[in-house]
Amino acid sequence: MTTHAPDVRRQGDYGLDGDFRVISARWQAMILAAIVAVLIALTVCGIVIGSLVVALVAGVIALGLVLFAGSYVHTSRVGKFKVWARILGDLALHGDEQVLDLGCGRGAVLLMAAELLPRGRAVGIDLWHPDQTGNSPDATRRNAELEGVADRIEVETGDITRLPFADNTFDLIISNLVLHNIASNADRRAAIDEAVRVLRPGGRLAIADLLATHRYRARLRELGLTDVRRRNLGWHMWWGSPFFPTRLVTATKKI
Ligand SMILES: C[S@@+](CC[C@H](N)C(=O)[O-])C[C@H]1O[C@@H](n2cnc3c(N)ncnc32)[C@H](O)[C@@H]1O
Repeated sequence: MTTHAPDVRRQGDYGLDGDFRVISARWQAMILAAIVAVLIALTVCGIVIGSLVVALVAGVIALGLVLFAGSYVHTSRVGKFKVWARILGDLALHGDEQVLDLGCGRGAVLLMAAELLPRGRAVGIDLWHPDQTGNSPDATRRNAELEGVADRIEVETGDITRLPFADNTFDLIISNLVLHNIASNADRRAAIDEAVRVLRPGGRLAIADLLATHRYRARLRELGLTDVRRRNLGWHMWWGSPFFPTRLVTATKKI
């Protein structure tokens, strides 16, 4: 049941999610545009010279790439905000909670949570890797100003596999598209263990991610959390196609 959800229209600039360590977002977009242009030219040539096979193959690949890119940009710029507004609304927060966002980046989810915390606090922790364009603590703080929640947030630099917080500190732990960036299963497991350590008894956890979410669910059950669930977040959070969905794992720490 959605009670009070944050506004989906955002004032800040949250960049684009992706792996920009080797090739920048701008170059990736230019390379993709060049490939699509060549494929469209091939399609036209195929039609002109009467080779339907060439026209069809090139046209279908061009269309597939355009749809892939469109879905990807939609998820990063629009879809994740729609989906997280619903997730946060469904959590029915009281407004005085202490919330931790693991890998907050430029604050997409952190600042929506902060909107729901007039008497609480939202802490974001990150290592500011190039998994998002323009990722930095200053960009997050700037967005917090633009969203009008700067007085409710704190931004820390740190590794989520070794959280610099005391046991049982937070009422809610959230995370969006972060854990898959951690290289090994052991370190992803350490991140789950750390989240559970700093979550207070009775506190809740909501982690959205790609790929290994079944392992997070298994680990949370091993650690004795209750109501452990995993679900597909739907087309608003497909990364280019239904073959790359985002799944949400939720759980509650026993009192
Ligand atoms: C794709 S971005 C998502 C950011 C944000 N959660 C959002 O939804 O906009 C992934 C983020 O995870 C951060 N990250 C990756 N590994 C991390 C780690 N071990 N500790 C802290 N942050 C990490 C990156 O720096 C990056 O900001």
